Amino acid sequence: VAELSLALWTTHGPTLSATPQEWLAAVPKDRAREHWYEGKQYSYEQLLSLHRGTDLEQACSQAERTLRHAKCQAAIEALAARWAESAPDVCIIVGNDQRELFHEDLQSPFVVYNGASFFHEPLTEQRAAHLPPGIRETDWAYRPETRVEYDAVPQLAQRIFELALEEEIDLSACAYWAEQKEPHYHTAAPHAFGFVIRRIMREHVVPMLPVFINTFYPPNQPSAARCFKFGQLLGRAVREWGVDKRVAIIGSGGLTHFVVNEALDQFFLRALRERDRAALTSLSQPFLMSGDSELRNWIAAAGAVFASSLEPAYESYVPCYRSPAGTGAGNGFAYWI
Ligand SMILES: [Fe+2]
Repeated sequence: VAELSLALWTTHGPTLSATPQEWLAAVPKDRAREHWYEGKQYSYEQLLSLHRGTDLEQACSQAERTLRHAKCQAAIEALAARWAESAPDVCIIVGNDQRELFHEDLQSPFVVYNGASFFHEPLTEQRAAHLPPGIRETDWAYRPETRVEYDAVPQLAQRIFELALEEEIDLSACAYWAEQKEPHYHTAAPHAFGFVIRRIMREHVVPMLPVFINTFYPPNQPSAARCFKFGQLLGRAVREWGVDKRVAIIGSGGLTHFVVNEALDQFFLRALRERDRAALTSLSQPFLMSGDSELRNWIAAAGAVFASSLEPAYESYVPCYRSPAGTGAGNGFAYWI
């Protein structure tokens, strides 16, 4: 029978793949916009005064950025090594779309990919010209050098849809992803999936089942509890798939960003480590906005994993700051075997 043989959670943002100097390219944008933090919205200036008297000035120095960047690279190496060693047959990746494939014309809370394969490809120069500052430099971490077709897992997707009917959970289906019309800045696999392929799987790519959660965009971001239940459905589909396969599941995204909230990240990682469903699903919608919203991808993967016999085996947390206002990314990494 099929079983979960590896669960892995990783952040996937640009701080992981840009140089510590390049991190600063995002600061002008940080200054210009509103930020979600602790369930409320703040301007950059308000965040600065909120954090006055803390050690963030030091935490975002060049020396600290360099140190923390290196810690992230070590964590990514640990995940990639575990991936290679575990050698699963197929992989479910829980990620989100950030207006890369899905737009305002149709935005689904949950999408399961049921095509036989999907494509990935490099960006054209014309598309790249529309990327925000500091993102072009990290392209290597998300995209192949030439167009590739990757195998998907339509049989497992079918099982998921059958069980969803039974459990009265409504899911959207996606059998291929549309070519985005230029000059849209994106094409092919969204960043949540590209990162996993390029930086974790590397030369050991297996057939993948992408599942999407609308983490970012009101009004239909699913609740934490709903994401957990969706994950339970994924776990059940694996157990009842009825084929002899070793299945990995990866939650891609988070942790708190674009303002780092170390207390929330620590609370979350503890809940994950201790299989604390109540704590994971206690996060209300205002705490799951903007980049923090991607915690939903971790929660859904947890929903699949908590019912399995897998146990925590690795965890790393690196808060990466680019400004004294606390902007940056809480980078977290974990796997269970
Ligand atoms: Fe993301």
